[in-house]
Amino acid sequence: MSNVAEIKLGEKSVSLPIVVGTEGEHAIDIAKLRSQTGYITLDDGYGNTGSCESAITFIDGEKGILRYRGIPIEELAQKSTFIETAYLIIYGNLPNHQQLRQFSDLLTRHELLHEDMKFHFQGFPAKAHPMAILSSMINACGCFSPTLLETESIPDFDIQAARLISQVRTIASFSYRKSRGLPMNYPKPTYKYTANLLHMMFSSPYEEVELNPEVVKALDLIFLLHADHEQNCSTSTVRMVASSRANLFASCSAGVCALWGPLHGGANQAVLEMLGEIHQSGDDGTRFIAAAKDKSSGKRLMGFGHRVYKNHDPRAKIIKAQCDRVLDTLHINDPLLDIAKRLEEATLNDSYFVERKLYPNVDFYSGIIMRALGIPLEMFTVMFAIGRMPGWIANYKEIMEEKETRIYRPRQIYTGSTVRGYIPIEER
Ligand code: CMC
Repeated sequence: MSNVAEIKLGEKSVSLPIVVGTEGEHAIDIAKLRSQTGYITLDDGYGNTGSCESAITFIDGEKGILRYRGIPIEELAQKSTFIETAYLIIYGNLPNHQQLRQFSDLLTRHELLHEDMKFHFQGFPAKAHPMAILSSMINACGCFSPTLLETESIPDFDIQAARLISQVRTIASFSYRKSRGLPMNYPKPTYKYTANLLHMMFSSPYEEVELNPEVVKALDLIFLLHADHEQNCSTSTVRMVASSRANLFASCSAGVCALWGPLHGGANQAVLEMLGEIHQSGDDGTRFIAAAKDKSSGKRLMGFGHRVYKNHDPRAKIIKAQCDRVLDTLHINDPLLDIAKRLEEATLNDSYFVERKLYPNVDFYSGIIMRALGIPLEMFTVMFAIGRMPGWIANYKEIMEEKETRIYRPRQIYTGSTVRGYIPIEER
């Protein structure tokens, strides 16, 4: 096959290079299209635009494949932990014993927030959404280590990355405790990453939280499954901000804001709200499905569909199995799980969903696990953000290590008024 694409525009014909990825994906490099023809490409929502070349995560949405650094998600879910996977995503390879120990030690060394950050927490109203707190506090974290913001050297990058991964968990638990009027719990260096988060969220000054290994494993798995997902809305935001050479904290803080929306990370909260609504209305799901198919209703089946997956989301299958295990271990009989399963079953035989290839995504069952773990609804998207941090950091690193990164700056097709004169206010 030729390695150039011939594009014919009227009488003119231009040759544009074809870029081929390691998994055989093909793209037309249109960087010179405008200078050669005066044309740009228009791709509303970027559904057909490759914004970068990246070596971190591979997705084949048609086949339902997801791999971090080449390793299938199913294998990582079975054999790895969130922290080992975070190392893989950021540094490119699985760590050996010594590398994992060093990484883990670095996370422990940087788990404490600066004491003055407590004053920032106090300034938020009790009902502030924890995603707003998380985004602000990540940026604030950067202010407490200004030297980390000035350099892009690799040793400092390691510290920046460790601080973010470790402290995002401390910020999350502090914001939860504050929203409940509970005293803040400091991290405990003896606990591993996910157990430490559960301790900070749920221990009281007089009683340590009881850590059920199945519960710890379930939350760790949720983090692992969310750790990266190539150029989604929040990761693209992180790369966009990073391309202006903003620092890692500012870039990831922007990522949190992008993640918050209900069509992205906020979907896990929206799913539980939807299931609750169906349950309370006495519907078995039939009425809601009918509404989701009717565009005028303004409703969508939350936790269903994906821009890239036109087949089963491989994360959804793993999370569904974990959901069953956790509820079993905790002896919880959750009616919302029954509704969720009924919805899934009904949509599999419904031409609307089949034709549009709409299947449950990662958010469909994760919320039910988190609810079983006692994590409140408004913290669901925060849990997604904790999990996604390694992916954002790896994408930031990739941008900073590129020799010739240009600032991200898309163009547009202007559709407003053509030139017109200024009318003085008395004459309008
Ligand atoms: N319920 C009902 N109809 C849907 C749904 C849904 N959840 N998702 C897509 N459709 C329909 C949509 O109305 C359209 O129909 P038509 O062709 O008749 O106009 C068709 O399917 C294609 O939808 P689209 O909006 O063009 O698809 P998209 O790629 O722009 O959107 C999505 C992807 C994930 C935003 C969307 O499927 C959605 O809103 N899902 C619900 C929210 C959700 O679960 N988001 C989490 C995504 S996974 C986690 C993450 O990566 O953040």
